[in-house]
Amino acid sequence: MKRDGATISLWQETAQDATFAGANTGDAVFDVLIVGGGITGVTTALLLQKAGKQCLVAEAQNLCFGTTGGTTAHINTFLDTSYDMIRSGFGADAARLIAGATNRSRDLFQQHVEDYRIDCGFEEKDAYLYAVEEKQVAELDKIYTSSREAGVAVEYVDRIPVPVPFLKAIVYRRQAQVHPTRYVQALGKAFEALGGTIFENCPVESVDKKGDLLHVKTGQGVLMAKALVYATHIPPGINLLHFRNAPYRSYAIAVTLNEGVYPNALAYDMFDPYHYYRTQNIDGTNYLIVGGEDHKTAHEANTEACFNKLVAHVRQLFDVAAVTHRWSSQYFEPADGLAYIGHLPGNPDNVYVATGYGGNGITYSHIAAITLTDLLTKGESEYADLFRPERMKPVAGFEAFVKENADVVTQFVAKRISAEKISGFAEIAPGEGRLVSYEGERIAVYKDESGKIYALNPVCTHAKCVVDWNGAEKSWDCPCHGARYDLDGNVLTGPARKNLQRIELEDLAKK
Ligand code: FES
Repeated sequence: MKRDGATISLWQETAQDATFAGANTGDAVFDVLIVGGGITGVTTALLLQKAGKQCLVAEAQNLCFGTTGGTTAHINTFLDTSYDMIRSGFGADAARLIAGATNRSRDLFQQHVEDYRIDCGFEEKDAYLYAVEEKQVAELDKIYTSSREAGVAVEYVDRIPVPVPFLKAIVYRRQAQVHPTRYVQALGKAFEALGGTIFENCPVESVDKKGDLLHVKTGQGVLMAKALVYATHIPPGINLLHFRNAPYRSYAIAVTLNEGVYPNALAYDMFDPYHYYRTQNIDGTNYLIVGGEDHKTAHEANTEACFNKLVAHVRQLFDVAAVTHRWSSQYFEPADGLAYIGHLPGNPDNVYVATGYGGNGITYSHIAAITLTDLLTKGESEYADLFRPERMKPVAGFEAFVKENADVVTQFVAKRISAEKISGFAEIAPGEGRLVSYEGERIAVYKDESGKIYALNPVCTHAKCVVDWNGAEKSWDCPCHGARYDLDGNVLTGPARKNLQRIELEDLAKK
């Protein structure tokens, strides 16, 4: 299984060897074409197919290539946006509605695992949130109270499952965890068994409305559909949603232990960014999975250091035998704290989207699938207003979000200036990428271990920001809306659709 970076996630390495038939569709008209074969796309496709719609999933690479293959797969009834924040921004009813939606998400996972007998390590677990500093205690109390008011089962506890001294802790019962790639691959098979079609290696290049139909130009020809869902994490094109979602990177490692007890629960501290812990048994081996060290995409000069900090953190707490896997992945933080699910602004009525999941992508994937299925089969959903992508709600936190985006511009300019001071390739170490100045031109240069140079125009093809080097994933990442490119400039993740322009070495020599 391929993924969108150089590191190999635990889920990627232990995925099943699944292929999907993707039969010739002729000139069939699909009821719904779903763009993106991650957990949101495949789950939505399955629910719609079950509801009688004829669906096709078009995935640019392979299933779980994006963040689904790099998640840590926590299924929660609480979100990064706490219930007190939801209540203050959207009201008490909204908090209760979202609490109900998170419960439905978990139940849908369980139902799928039972219905399709999926061997994917799905287990119910308790989830502990704990304060280790005095100032975190008041925050924890607020989270406790607002969770109960929203109808979520939570209680104070005096023990937590990780060896961390703490001041106060709460536990949410009946949370869950899953092996995400095995789960999604099995859902894909169930979808195919119901008559659905999955096309892998099928990038969508453009969508045109002709009459009532959408003509979708793809790498495998033109496909026709009555409706389309972008389940691509962030939609392509230039859209309102690119200004309401900020891209972030998160880091995870899997370790085995010499001694000590693997936590039999999910656990979270309250730092910003926070650390999270859980254990997954895969084919008889226990792995402790720890995540954290999040930062805005292309806002960290040394991404390797994020892994090193995470490893040092885990070694302080546990007797680590081996760090078996390390990987990073991307998520999008929504401006007002809630996901955007529904009609894609600026597009025909029959084009939908799900994005802005924050750090709760696995939980939101099934909320999105439920919401989109209702919208596409009944024309309404109880969650439609809450997650409506057109909403404009400047609530607490929005001002900080706008400031954060302003930082992108500031940092972007600064990086250009410093890059131009770099004079040549000789300064670039093997295995390193850098923005360099070459006779007045900015270029993105990577030197591989053998000294081979890969040179690219660093201007992002989405909206012309300048990409920056991500050493841990060996990718070029865009700070503005999160597009990412590989060493050859090929798009790894949207919203860009076009590759970075390559600069041939002979052209460089001529300059
Ligand atoms: Fe929008 Fe690069 S992702 S400019």
